[in-house]
Amino acid sequence: MKNGIANREVKKAVQTKGASGRARPIAPRSSTKVSEDGKLQRSEQPTPFEKMFEDMLKDIYWAEQHMVEALHTMTEAATTNELKEAFEDHRFVTQKHVSRLDKVFSMLGKKSETKKCDAMDGIIRETERIIKETPEGSMTRDAGLIICAQKAEHYEIASYGSLVQVAYTLGHDDVAYILEKTLRDELNADYQLTDIAEGYINPMADNETGEDTKEESGEEPKEAE
Ligand SMILES: [Fe+2]
Ligand SMILES: [Fe+2]
Repeated sequence: MKNGIANREVKKAVQTKGASGRARPIAPRSSTKVSEDGKLQRSEQPTPFEKMFEDMLKDIYWAEQHMVEALHTMTEAATTNELKEAFEDHRFVTQKHVSRLDKVFSMLGKKSETKKCDAMDGIIRETERIIKETPEGSMTRDAGLIICAQKAEHYEIASYGSLVQVAYTLGHDDVAYILEKTLRDELNADYQLTDIAEGYINPMADNETGEDTKEESGEEPKEAE
């Protein structure tokens, strides 16, 4: 997907997320305890907050891996070349997101693991349903695919936005920096999809009738029940 679209807005969105009125803490680690002789000791056991952070990384790792596959299906199903290209470009970017998460796991001294993301699984199944329910070669199909893709992007934006902030809180600034790069990619993808939908796909979908579908597919439209 082309970068640079609405960069000013992306920057603003990221800053807003980070600047929720609170300064980033300078990492008093919650797993650090004071021993009887007054010395600081770091527990080997992760805190529940650290464990939750790790689980959420596994969740988005699952989501990204499955989106690589889903974006391929969406590229094949799309009608217009512009949308096909947008999906194909974002599939390439999504593969990079998977690699970045591998790096994040290794920086945290963990092995890369997935945990099923029910939310993304649902969005992917919804996308498959839209493909089945919309006529092949129609703009309505593209409009539906964009809506599904934006649902996926919004899930990723919410996830990465939160993970960036938690990483900072846990003192993993280097990890937060990497996650923030992916957050920007997701925001750019979302803005690009909005541009495509509002630019011409939604208005053209609005002009489609059952007759268009009949002409293209050669099939008689079914009567409304
Ligand atoms: Fe992604
Ligand atoms: Fe994405």
